[in-house]
Amino acid sequence: MIRLENVTKRYGETLAVDSLTLDIPAGEVCVLIGPSGCGKTTTLRMMNRLIEPTSGHIFVDEADVETLRPEQLRRGLGYAIQSVGLFPHLTVGENIVTVPKLLKWDKERMAARVEELLTLVGLAPSEYEGKYPRQLSGGEAQRVGVARALAADPPVLLMDEPFGAVDPLTRQRLQAEFVRIQRDLRKTVVFVTHDVDEAIRLADRIALMRGGRLQQYATPEEILDHPANKFVHDFMGADRALKRLGRVKVSDVMRTDVPTVDSSTRAADLRSRASCAEERFLYLVDGSGRLAGWFDCADLADGGGPESAMTSVDWRESAVASDASLKEALSRMLEFGFRSIAVVDGEGRLLGDVALPTIEAALGAGDTHVAAADGQGGARP
Ligand SMILES: Nc1ncnc2c1ncn2[C@@H]1O[C@H](COP(=O)(O)OP(=O)(O)OP(=O)(O)O)[C@@H](O)[C@H]1O
Ligand SMILES: [Mg+2]
Repeated sequence: MIRLENVTKRYGETLAVDSLTLDIPAGEVCVLIGPSGCGKTTTLRMMNRLIEPTSGHIFVDEADVETLRPEQLRRGLGYAIQSVGLFPHLTVGENIVTVPKLLKWDKERMAARVEELLTLVGLAPSEYEGKYPRQLSGGEAQRVGVARALAADPPVLLMDEPFGAVDPLTRQRLQAEFVRIQRDLRKTVVFVTHDVDEAIRLADRIALMRGGRLQQYATPEEILDHPANKFVHDFMGADRALKRLGRVKVSDVMRTDVPTVDSSTRAADLRSRASCAEERFLYLVDGSGRLAGWFDCADLADGGGPESAMTSVDWRESAVASDASLKEALSRMLEFGFRSIAVVDGEGRLLGDVALPTIEAALGAGDTHVAAADGQGGARP
């Protein structure tokens, strides 16, 4: 879908990009990563002809971009950038339809598209459409930026650190949404980041650059298992076994038949279930199946009252989403000192749980011991 052939960009003495050759198949996410100044943004900007290469050729869908008019090209490429770049004096809705407006879509079609895209990126249309960019949080603004890039349904998305300006938790949420959206839309995406975990999570292929030169272009697994040189090895980090967990989704490995009780369960029943339970914890759910807490059976069996054995929790904090990665699940478990963590859907309904042994199994036999890896081997509830 996108092919770079010996593309070079020179600024005076600086070789911003040095004979870069790259083939990006349709429907794949290619993550460009590397230290600051290695030429990521320059590469992206050459793809949509915001700047011209000094030498070399770039093909999009078999057409040499040099032969296309820039406007023509940019319509086929959605562009989302780090600073979001929303027009401050336009509403969210007006921002989103920037390109459709240029294409002279009619009003109904644009209104329908705004509603569709806001829903897609997880913002309630009625609430957000009329807001101005200054009324948005950083994460909301980034979602609007992504919606705008998608507006005219371009086959190719160029994203330059689209989730760069938000806190780590929001960033993980945006990444999860990106994975969900991409699963349906199957765009060809060139995604710039300098966050290794983000690259591992989102990429079909990673292109690691240094000083304008491509160091390795491979799947995350390949790059983690067989780094091409010492720079790649060091850049990907020492905890490569743990990083691989970023490729595994919680929903792929979670246990779904978890023991649950609800608030109508009587104390005596609880105690008898606790005494014969093989599991130490019984999850407490409310009437709608939402996670409300859990009972520690060891405590109940010892004669402790249900009150003392129960821990109430807010599912937003003490559980992970089913589309989270095992790496996130593990870091939550280490943060709270849990041996297992509940998995919930977007409304907090309990779907299952993931336990440390499952994560160990995912790491592969003979690999780094998970609990020891963080020096928190004793963190058992
Ligand atoms: N317009 C310009 N004039 C001169 N030099 C430039 C220009 N744009 C970029 N460069 C240089 O080209 C190199 C690559 O810059 P680029 O913006 O592509 O890096 P990057 O990988 O996106 O970095 P970052 O992670 O910091 O965004 C840098 O050395 C930069 O200083
Ligand atoms: Mg950049």
